[in-house]
Amino acid sequence: MQKSKWSRGVAVVGAGMSKFGAFPEKTSRDLFVDAYLELQSSIDKGFDPKRIQAFYLGNFSSDQFEKQSHLAPILASWIGISPVPSIRVEDACASGGVAIRQAALAIASGEYDVILVGGIEKMTDLHISAVTEALATAADTQFEIPAGFTFPGFYAAMATAYLKEYKADREAFYHVAIKNHKNGALNDKAQFGQSITEIMENKKQRAAQKGRSVPEWQDEIEFLSDPKGNPNIAWPMTLFDCSPVSDGAAVALMVAEEIAKDFTDSPIYLIGSGQASDGALPDRDTLASIPAAQEAGRRAYAMAGLNPNDIDFAEVHDCFTIAEIMAIEDLGFFPYGTGWKAAMSGKTARDGEHPINTSGGLKAKGHPVGASGVGQLIEIWKQLRGIAGERQLPGGPKIGLTHNVGGSGQTCVVNIFERRD
Ligand code: COA
Repeated sequence: MQKSKWSRGVAVVGAGMSKFGAFPEKTSRDLFVDAYLELQSSIDKGFDPKRIQAFYLGNFSSDQFEKQSHLAPILASWIGISPVPSIRVEDACASGGVAIRQAALAIASGEYDVILVGGIEKMTDLHISAVTEALATAADTQFEIPAGFTFPGFYAAMATAYLKEYKADREAFYHVAIKNHKNGALNDKAQFGQSITEIMENKKQRAAQKGRSVPEWQDEIEFLSDPKGNPNIAWPMTLFDCSPVSDGAAVALMVAEEIAKDFTDSPIYLIGSGQASDGALPDRDTLASIPAAQEAGRRAYAMAGLNPNDIDFAEVHDCFTIAEIMAIEDLGFFPYGTGWKAAMSGKTARDGEHPINTSGGLKAKGHPVGASGVGQLIEIWKQLRGIAGERQLPGGPKIGLTHNVGGSGQTCVVNIFERRD
């Protein structure tokens, strides 16, 4: 393994998350406590919270969603770790992944040895129109929003470009949703703990109970192709092409490599990290890929001394189904123009050659935007340590990658983690 370019190695020694979903009865403090308590019990040798020296919190917009800004010190105080420096990291939907990278850099610099990194968003208290408006502030409000774009609209434009450029089959998007719901059904923290077949059968049952005509969908594709089962949101993105609006929190304890064994005999190590940025959609040469993702991946692979085929599995930013297809191409798992075929032929399933989003991804696990990047790390932690339950990948995976996108691709951060025997 090539030596890290950082002067000090960084490890993850504990991780926890709240359930993702819609929780009108809970505040973001409650969700954060759920995640933090799980983190505490995940640390094999136990730990004294007094060892935490700093707190980095990924959060997109608690000011808009909850009328509560400045959330990092508030949560730090709530869990009793004041007066540690507490920093909110904001990079739209990539806030969590960027918080992980910033915490890692702070450890690598030698400033801190032990950092709590978290991500949180409480989105569902607002009406959907206000949520859409809040999310839109992550776009370019001078050039994109006045043209009428919402986030489903951005990804619809990218999906349209992709379909045209590669003569792809629109059904490929459905296969991403089917796979991710299937994985999410095995994840008790997921917002949608149901496969699309189960959702379809429930809808039939509800229709029968209400004395309405029962739809004759034979399989998931028929259900997803029917606007009565799967309404259009922004063509070609339908309801089941979108990640949901979610509440949720996730946390991890990151430490300097040389003290990792104080906390557990089986840490996971951050061996590659890269971040890149880009302009808004009108500035790009192509809409059929996300150049910042390609660049972030290139940097992370270079740091880790790895190539895409060394990655055993990945959690990628499937905020919309097209985003997963672009991600698996931008990250080099499949050549450009073939990701849609890989999705259709099962190559990204848990038993496929490149398992993607074993957690259910943002699509089924949920997308509390500031928490999503840290939520991805939770799945890597579980899979690498062999504790992912029914969705555990066979064969003891050793390398897992996270890919977290902000906006329509203005930010991307890729982090690569390793288990060492
Ligand atoms: N996928 C599948 N089903 C979904 C869903 C999703 N993304 N979102 C909601 N549903 C289901 C609900 O469970 C509910 O089902 P039920 O009638 O069987 O109970 C039904 O659809 C209606 O739910 P509701 O909450 O009223 O939906 P909505 O119309 O308010 O929101 C979207 C639907 C697609 C508009 C919303 O999820 C959305 O905006 N998603 C994108 C979020 C986003 O842009 N994030 C940032 C990405 S960069």
